Amino acid sequence: MKIRPQNDKKDEAEGGFNMSITLNYEDVLGFINNEEIFSSAEKIKELNLKLDKGTGKGHDFLGWLYLPKNIIEDEISEIEGIAKEIRENSDLLVCVGIGGSYLGAKAVIHALSDNSFEIQFAGKNISGYELELLLKKLENKDFYINVISKSGTTTEPAIAFRFLKELAKKKYGKNYTKHIIATTDEKKGALRSFCNSEGIRNFIIPDNVGGRFSVLTPVGLLPIACAGLNIRKLISGAKRGVEKYSRQELQENISHLYAIIRNLLYTQAGKKIEVLSTFEPRLKYIIEWWKQLYGESEGKDGKGIFPAGCVFSTDLHSMGQYIQDGERILFETFLIVKNTSSIIVEEDAQNLDGLNYLKGKTLDEINFKAYEGTKNAHTDGGVPNMSIIMDKLSEENIGELIYFFEKAVAISGYLIDINPFNQPGVEAYKKNMFKLLGKPN
Ligand code: PA5
Repeated sequence: MKIRPQNDKKDEAEGGFNMSITLNYEDVLGFINNEEIFSSAEKIKELNLKLDKGTGKGHDFLGWLYLPKNIIEDEISEIEGIAKEIRENSDLLVCVGIGGSYLGAKAVIHALSDNSFEIQFAGKNISGYELELLLKKLENKDFYINVISKSGTTTEPAIAFRFLKELAKKKYGKNYTKHIIATTDEKKGALRSFCNSEGIRNFIIPDNVGGRFSVLTPVGLLPIACAGLNIRKLISGAKRGVEKYSRQELQENISHLYAIIRNLLYTQAGKKIEVLSTFEPRLKYIIEWWKQLYGESEGKDGKGIFPAGCVFSTDLHSMGQYIQDGERILFETFLIVKNTSSIIVEEDAQNLDGLNYLKGKTLDEINFKAYEGTKNAHTDGGVPNMSIIMDKLSEENIGELIYFFEKAVAISGYLIDINPFNQPGVEAYKKNMFKLLGKPN
């Protein structure tokens, strides 16, 4: 296997190492135009001011807006200290949580971790099969549990935690409390009561930060640090995001541009579905996190773009058919990473597979051509698309990307005049389920 040196001149000439995140939207311009986009500049400024001054809908939940700048050194050090203890004294960490109390950590870890320390996720469903497998696996391992729930009362993690707590008690006796770290509300909820009565070490989720905006609080930071990732760099990337995506002028703020473009595709071009597509499987859970952030924030009052996701080129052999040829109701946002590895295709003397024409190319280069080919095919097929392009996968870029999407969904929600920070629709299934299970009031 040949590897091309990392700082290859050709890539540098393309500007690959100096850019962080860019937005290319030329392939939406056949469906909406620049005049429509930039005539919204004043409106976006107004909405941004509403967010900044806290005068818009859901203003009690704006803690995420300046979170990267407000995280204090003491909290970062405490998280790093506990992460070190967990890594040194156990085989794995089990994170128990669902929705915003799970997806952010999973997304960042899946994107960046080198698997040097195992992180398992439980309590994100009610599958007895999955939980039983995990409990069996843990019998022969040393483990810590990070139970994460803002409300401290969510059924799925509460069930899983009951089983995991019992196993920890069985294994560690009265020392079991040392193996549990909770992340929850400062005052309320069953998890808070448990921490107080058993003396469990815990981190607090700020009151004004909703679950799906909480990845840069201890909710995400502790599991991410346990996975061996640098949370200081993640926060520093998010800070860079705050600088870039607070800019007032639309042409200087690609997060706001993304928000207005998707809104115009929805309201003017009739596109009701956004497919976030990547050619990098490591971003699969960034897509899952984005689906929650956008679905739960925007889908209310009979409005909102339906967020869907694809991992290409795998899904080009399945969903690719619909995107190219099915009903013209969707637009696409590509999430692209330019530099992921340097492996090169080598010449084969027999060339039975006919691949010698790829000789000397990196897989990154081939994957990028697959992206360009797909983008052009989808544009020709009537699917407006834009591309968010990262030069590489790093803590800093992922931190910036998180803030890019958070800021854009807030502006997007205000553009359709809904409260992006609540989730009243999530209660309906719970009410029915509790009734069917005979839960007392
Ligand atoms: O975004 C949200 O607020 C939700 O997805 C919650 O994160 C999810 O329902 C879990 O809630 P909790 O952390 O209270 O257990």
